[in-house]
Amino acid sequence: MALKVLVTGGAGFIGSNFIRHLLRTYPGYTVVNLDKLTYAGNLANLADVDSNPNYRFQKGDICDPGHAEAALRDGVDAVVHFAAESHVDRSIADARVFVETNIQGTYTLLDLARRTGVSRFVHVSTDEVYGSLAPDQVADEAWPLAPNSPYAASKAAADLLARSFWHTYSFPVIITRSSNNYGPHQFPEKLIPLMITHALEGNKLPVYGDGMNERDWIFVEDNCRALDRVLHAGRPGETYNVGSGEPVSNLALIRSLLRILGGSGVQIEFVADRPGHDRRYALDAGKVARALGWKPEVSLEKGLTRTVEWYRTHPEWVQNALSGEYRDYYEKFYVHRRASLARI
Ligand code: NAD
Ligand code: TYD
Repeated sequence: MALKVLVTGGAGFIGSNFIRHLLRTYPGYTVVNLDKLTYAGNLANLADVDSNPNYRFQKGDICDPGHAEAALRDGVDAVVHFAAESHVDRSIADARVFVETNIQGTYTLLDLARRTGVSRFVHVSTDEVYGSLAPDQVADEAWPLAPNSPYAASKAAADLLARSFWHTYSFPVIITRSSNNYGPHQFPEKLIPLMITHALEGNKLPVYGDGMNERDWIFVEDNCRALDRVLHAGRPGETYNVGSGEPVSNLALIRSLLRILGGSGVQIEFVADRPGHDRRYALDAGKVARALGWKPEVSLEKGLTRTVEWYRTHPEWVQNALSGEYRDYYEKFYVHRRASLARI
């Protein structure tokens, strides 16, 4: 059956990769992209599908019931909800918009999707809701939620709202919690694109703290395949972790990047740590493998190589990203962090 899918936040990193995946994999599907176009939303991410007659962009805010209703009008079968404020450092600087978009926006969307008879709602969440894990711990879906940053707390609140819609109204919500994604089109404020763009420009690489924090990395196309499986075969009311199961330290990851970049003379600079910095994320993604037959296909080495190549060959995209509001943010917070380090 050909579906009409509403994707929220489709102009961002994962959402744009997912829309491309959907249109390529299911030529009969119709995709509506509802996106507010914040600093992280970039329509250039979707330039290659813009003229596809099965794709429509609608500028709008998920917090605004009028915008959400307009996007849901005319019969949407499924919602895949990516729209969010997604950067931990920004949430530490000011969490207000995280509460608005991630919590109130998710509520607005859930409420209207339920009232308009949407038959499947995939809520895209994160492993950060489990908080920081000890070296011998791995979180499965039953792991207690212990979010530490305002970003993670806002995502956990949204997860609980989504869960309540299943339990209270039998509204068919499915939650995915993926680990750190990386790949083409990621805004260069997140670790991997930030390190690549700094290295390509010959700038120092700012490592928070001692660089031994661990993250589980997943190539964005692997997550898109997992979301596809969940959208089509996931069980309503269930939660699925999506990750590689192989956490690596930030320093080890940066060293791999530098090897792939082949650059010499690029320097790592240890800067002041992020407040409340989670030490380790580690996911058990066994459930999605067993229930839906999903496994990551792209190794870290291959994924990083493809990502470096993409950033190397898209200097205009990078320049555009760097010249927007990002520049202000960069000046305000990164320079501030360096200044505070100098005082230590
Ligand atoms: P992103 O920041 O690149 O993109 C977010 C998109 O949402 C942007 O296009 C932005 O314009 C849009 N948006 C923000 N506020 C909006 C609003 N009020 N109304 C409509 N649109 C709005 O984010 P991403 O990295 O692509 O992440 C997508 C989702 O996946 C988020 O929910 C995030 O929490 C989750 N997630 C991300 C990662 C990761 O590593 N990037 C990992 C796990 C989960
Ligand atoms: P990030 O990409 O912000 O993702 P998250 O905090 O959501 O996991 O950061 C990944 C890791 O990299 C995290 O441990 C913080 C660290 N980091 C740095 O060391 N330097 C940086 O400039 C950034 C952006 C992150």
